[in-house]
Amino acid sequence: MKYKKNILCIGAGYVGGPTMAVIAAKCPDFKVTVVDVNAERIRAWNGDRLPIFEPGLLEVVREARGRNLFFSTDIAAGIREADIIFVSVNTPTKTFGQGAGMASDLQYWEKTAHEIVAHSDRAKIIVEKSTLPVRTAEAMEHILQENKKGIHFEVVSNPEFLAEGSAVRDLLEPDRVLIGSRQTEAGLQAMREVREIFARWVPAEKIITTNLWSAELSKLVANAFLAQRISSINAVSALCEKTGADVGEISFAVGSDKRIGPRFLNASIGFGGSCFKKDILNLVYISRSYGLIEVADYWEAVVRMNEYQQERFVQAIIREMFHTVVGKKIVLLGFAFKADTGDTRESPGIHVARKLLEERASLVISDPQALENARRDLAAIVGATAGTVEYEPDPYRAAAGAQGLAVITEWPAYRELDFEKIFASMGKPAFVFDGRNILDHRRLFEIGFNVFPLGKPSLTHFA
Ligand code: NAD
Ligand code: UDX
Repeated sequence: MKYKKNILCIGAGYVGGPTMAVIAAKCPDFKVTVVDVNAERIRAWNGDRLPIFEPGLLEVVREARGRNLFFSTDIAAGIREADIIFVSVNTPTKTFGQGAGMASDLQYWEKTAHEIVAHSDRAKIIVEKSTLPVRTAEAMEHILQENKKGIHFEVVSNPEFLAEGSAVRDLLEPDRVLIGSRQTEAGLQAMREVREIFARWVPAEKIITTNLWSAELSKLVANAFLAQRISSINAVSALCEKTGADVGEISFAVGSDKRIGPRFLNASIGFGGSCFKKDILNLVYISRSYGLIEVADYWEAVVRMNEYQQERFVQAIIREMFHTVVGKKIVLLGFAFKADTGDTRESPGIHVARKLLEERASLVISDPQALENARRDLAAIVGATAGTVEYEPDPYRAAAGAQGLAVITEWPAYRELDFEKIFASMGKPAFVFDGRNILDHRRLFEIGFNVFPLGKPSLTHFA
């Protein structure tokens, strides 16, 4: 079959895989190839156990795979064939040298730019899909234009706004698609070509076009705003615990104002995930590098509040369990950074587990999707502490003989558990720490648990 256009995506991760699967499903006349240096990941994309858990994704992949969607490790061939190349490689926080702990590590991204130059023999549109510091496209342009082959590459920014756990829905029905380009004739033409892809299924009014720098910066700012709402309500949760106010009631009352809106106002153990912390710290680093100290400090406080909230949760467990958890069996219900994903990157569960292991607790980690990642995350920590860890997908088996349950992830199934059965199997006194406020606290108290929600009065049987 002859395809109208060849689209390549470099990076077959949480963004590249789902995004390209949806593009392939919606554009059957385009050939969509996804390449990665990680052969194991590519093998998984070509099988029925996809490398990431994402509701509805397997169906979309199956619809297009082999027809016009291909996963491969042949990066050179992919580049040669492509008209449009999406770059969706990881851009984690730097762990070394200048900007360590704050700036983006752009080594993977830069490597792709050099590979594109090496394997291209004609003009191409390069689309930044990864989240990048503002003005990265300029550096990308410099690397690409320095080629000795006389090839023109036009760089376009198309940041991704999908959230894990709802990636397929977010891609099929996005609030907006953002495309930034140079405002030159060539830049606008490249923008139109990228817009044409999304216009197959996204209404025209939802496709926003801007200059390159606005598109790059909008992505960092969108994540900063979302995270800032969570830190704001989490700050309020601490005040609620001191005053007898109920943070759930406050979220509802405050979020009912149309100007504020109800979403992203759930108090929690803190936000996790690969994006929020990384992208805010990047924004902080960029602001500071332009000498905007107040701007940097303002956004950095969102991350500090998140660390405070995670720490507050662990401290509450230790304090309420009579200031010692040595040898106590405590179950972490959930380990993923949110429900409907197996991803544990920056999960608050990692911080909670580390602190409790340092206190020599005997942890049992339970999660329907994330145990493999949890095992990897905790491997080094377990070896360095006197605590112990077991991994048990079945919450009932996990809870047997435990003294405490701590909800880390808001898996809906946890609401449906038979807590009478669980209580009967636990040591006494039995504690529940609800880091997501998803359980029926009054009912748990009536069963016999001592219950510690977030930002709400605790319910205990102690005089
Ligand atoms: P990921 O780590 O899951 O995937 C990145 C992939 O790129 C990896 O499989 C890696 O092997 C591959 N890779 C790295 N260098 C390569 C190279 N030179 N050639 C070929 N493949 C290479 O990352 P992700 O979560 O998909 O994120 C990708 C980008 O998208 C990041 O910039 C991230 O900030 C951004 N983003 C992520 C999300 C999310 O929810 N995860 C949402 C929006 C934006
Ligand atoms: C986020 C952005 O939502 C998405 O647009 C961007 O493309 C990538 O980063 P993601 O990290 O996948 O997506 O999930 P998200 O739903 O935003 O949740 C992030 C964290 O915030 C999770 O740990 C979640 O549990 C937490 N959260 C979310 C809260 O604590 N309270 C809320 O009200 C909402």
